[in-house]
Amino acid sequence: MGLRLIDNPLIRHKLNTIRDISTPSERLRCLVEEISLMCMPYLGEGLPTHVRRIRTPLMEGDFEFIDEGSIVLVCILRAGLPMLSGALKALPGASSGFLAIKRDEKSLISKLYYSRLPNIKGRYVILLDPMLATGGTFQLAMEEIGALGPRHVRSLHIVASPQGIEEVSRKYPDVDLYVISVDESLNSMGYIVPGVGDIGDRLFTGNL
Ligand code: URA
Repeated sequence: MGLRLIDNPLIRHKLNTIRDISTPSERLRCLVEEISLMCMPYLGEGLPTHVRRIRTPLMEGDFEFIDEGSIVLVCILRAGLPMLSGALKALPGASSGFLAIKRDEKSLISKLYYSRLPNIKGRYVILLDPMLATGGTFQLAMEEIGALGPRHVRSLHIVASPQGIEEVSRKYPDVDLYVISVDESLNSMGYIVPGVGDIGDRLFTGNL
């Protein structure tokens, strides 16, 4: 499938509230969590399901459920944390994995500091990272995840740059990218423009 733009006016409204420099950290964390939860129906399409016989208050019948145990949510620390909270509200039975990746502010080269991933072999991975900028973080994450033999990987980004999309689509044609907005460009400091600024700082330190 490649790139899937999530085109929904309420999700866009929340994204544009995140863009607003006057939105405080506490509200930003809620918005990122809400947006991530609202995107889950899109990311859930095509996930494996099973039919279970249950009793409703009125009758017994066969009903479809997602195989939550086949899903692994991988969160890029730290900005992906509120995304994980939202995704776990939709898929509480999924496993979670964590990757701490930081970009050097001068060279823009990403470095992996910590990796704690559950068993991924044969499972469906949903990678959660609010910004797809140069694609460096994505590549490091895919090196960790890909080595563990996932069945399929899809990723959710709130904002992406055209360069980031181009780079990761070329390198990882089998990964499905779900993006709310592809913004205009990437500046020389590696920030997406107009973007949302440094999302990690805005979410957790209150710096603008
Ligand atoms: N990371 C951010 O926090 N913001 C950007 O614009 C790009 C990467």
